[in-house]
Amino acid sequence: MPTNLHEFLRSRRSIRRFKPIAVNTDILTRIIETATHAPSAHNCQPWRFAVLTKPEPKLRLSELLAADFRRDLAADGLAEAEIESRLIRSKSRINAAPVVIILCMDTSEMDIYPDKKRRHAEQMMAVQSAAQAGLQLQLAAHAEGLSSVWTCGPLFTPDSVKSALSLADSWQPQAMFFLGYADESPKEKTLKPLTEIVQWIA
Ligand SMILES: Cc1cc2nc3c(=O)[nH]c(=O)nc-3n(C[C@H](O)[C@H](O)[C@H](O)COP(=O)(O)O)c2cc1C
Repeated sequence: MPTNLHEFLRSRRSIRRFKPIAVNTDILTRIIETATHAPSAHNCQPWRFAVLTKPEPKLRLSELLAADFRRDLAADGLAEAEIESRLIRSKSRINAAPVVIILCMDTSEMDIYPDKKRRHAEQMMAVQSAAQAGLQLQLAAHAEGLSSVWTCGPLFTPDSVKSALSLADSWQPQAMFFLGYADESPKEKTLKPLTEIVQWIA
């Protein structure tokens, strides 16, 4: 684990295969608590976390998500064999992950505006704030020697996620994290050069 902060931040990578080892609840609590130190618009802290460590809720979630996924893939015109193999992969990722965390957003304490433009901006602020907690969660996990990956399935199937987990109406699923002890090495990653992504304004 790098001790230099820059090296530490640069060494976080997405991991999608985990050892079948449970994660201690105190460690998970500490990770989530650190995630809640993220900055947020108006300090509204719109992030919410649904934590799944037991097989039954993971199975429930994976089955409901798979039903939606099947509908989408069939509408895309994929062959049945391809649909079946993608569904198996999707279900096994959820069920094999030692920990699944659904990051939700609750906008009930955000500002309310009469016009569409500012309502949209306010919604974006909540999304951006929730994402801050998402990255902070991944970095806190990394600090504990754990690995994770951010996945976006819940954005496509928010209602199924809510119903599978009986989430409050105001919780809007944003992302699903798989978390555990790494059982793979990440592939090389090429970063875009700064010359392409930074404009130094004169
Ligand atoms: C908003 C967001 C959505 C993502 N969705 C997925 C996903 O659905 N499935 C997946 O395997 N990885 C997903 N990722 C992980 C990215 O693929 C990964 O961060 C990227 O390839 C860079 O690799 P690194 O995290 O190892 O640096 C997502 C990441 C972000 C930030």
